Amino acid sequence: MKKIDILLGLQWGDEGKGKIVDVVTPDYDVVARFQGGPNAGHSLEFNGIRHVLHIIPSGIFHKDKINIIGNGVVIDPIIFEEEIEALVKMGLTPTDNLYVSKKAHLILPTHKLLDAAYESKKGKQKIGSTLKGIGPTYTDKTARVGLRVCDVFSPDFEAKYQHLIGQHKEILDQYGFDYSKMLPELDERWHQSLATLRSFTCIDSEYVLHEYLREGKSVLAEGAQGTLLDLEFGAYPFVTSSNTIAAGAFTGLGLDPHLAGKTIGIVKAYCTRVGSGPFPTELFDATGEELRRVGNEFGATTGRPRRCGWLDLVALQYALMVNGVTDIALTKADVMSDFDTINICTAYRVNGELTTRMPAATDAQIEPVYTTLKGWKTDISGCKTYEELPSEFKDYIHYIEEQTHTPVSIVSVGPDREATIFR
Ligand code: GDP
Ligand code: IMO
Ligand code: MG
Repeated sequence: MKKIDILLGLQWGDEGKGKIVDVVTPDYDVVARFQGGPNAGHSLEFNGIRHVLHIIPSGIFHKDKINIIGNGVVIDPIIFEEEIEALVKMGLTPTDNLYVSKKAHLILPTHKLLDAAYESKKGKQKIGSTLKGIGPTYTDKTARVGLRVCDVFSPDFEAKYQHLIGQHKEILDQYGFDYSKMLPELDERWHQSLATLRSFTCIDSEYVLHEYLREGKSVLAEGAQGTLLDLEFGAYPFVTSSNTIAAGAFTGLGLDPHLAGKTIGIVKAYCTRVGSGPFPTELFDATGEELRRVGNEFGATTGRPRRCGWLDLVALQYALMVNGVTDIALTKADVMSDFDTINICTAYRVNGELTTRMPAATDAQIEPVYTTLKGWKTDISGCKTYEELPSEFKDYIHYIEEQTHTPVSIVSVGPDREATIFR
């Protein structure tokens, strides 16, 4: 039986997962998304064109590879249709190589409205959700009232849909949320878009993936969001509503945990975060501004400016621990090419006490403790081999490897497919 490799983010999302999945896809037969939904924005670039995917796995641009949307994903049929239309315009035929799990849950128009209603009442506790309906859809999944992809083929689908919409309207009424103008249009668009979803091969992805692995096919599981947004291990409640960690790949695809192969953790050379919640190394100064400007740190889904800060090894060690990462892919160090010095957080001072552990309480006062390394002051974006990289950047990589006991196997030095160095 072939093992399954997992690729996921080790920070707060937007580490460059989409780019790295696209780059490593030639090594695999199948790419399967295991959680999250259109809150994700996975960008990749080739031939000078940037593509952003939200629900569809990032292996889709390789025509001979199979892509699967797993049971752990939540699908908005409207966004799914938009993504498919964009791919078709590019000359791809996604109906040939994209399969959808019958067990994936559907984001209804009212899930999005509920997201907005809940957020508007949270005040200071506002999560900064992407408002794509993620939380309410997973809530209905765990409440055992949600609708799944297989339901759209059922004769009583419309009745089930109307029943759930009715329940959502009651909640929206309690929240005083006026849906009268938005809902009819959303509802019509949602129903129209089901035709696209229905035109795809919908599968029992757990059976299909096990068969593939038995046949010796290689599978890459693609995560969305990041470890520090995980429902269990992120800074709750400032998290997303799914398990973004490696364990999520097994529940989100229906796989046997013994089949775990490599786990590739994507790490941005600094940190970013969109939305609210603790961010110990956040920079509010010109350096933070430079990271945002040079790194083009604006959300791929919402366009919001991302909060920027130094690399946080306390958080990274935690992410490595809960995921069992075998390889790190380091991205975006090219963004820091002009920096004289680079800080890395190695410990926290929490309420005066030094620690290398992440506090569970989100109101803890965290003061980062930094080690300062020399910057490389060279444009590394054109480097094609590890040998070409400046020695200060190699020192930076060695420092991360030494501290984490994990090899940095891939170094990304630009958004394009070509700007990737394998060691
Ligand atoms: P994802 O959600 O993890 O797939 O990441 P996003 O696509 O949301 O954000 C990463 C951004 O950085 C995208 O705009 C990528 O095109 C870009 N990117 C990825 N790797 C690199 C890199 O090594 N250097 C630079 N400069 N940009 C990168
Ligand atoms: P990718 O896959 C960065 C953040 C939101 C918010 C919190 C909850 O592109 O890395 P939600 O919409 O899930 O209710 O939002 O999680 N968030 C992300 N941040 N990248 C993402 O995805 C994210 N998906 C959700 O900003 O703080
Ligand atoms: Mg993203």
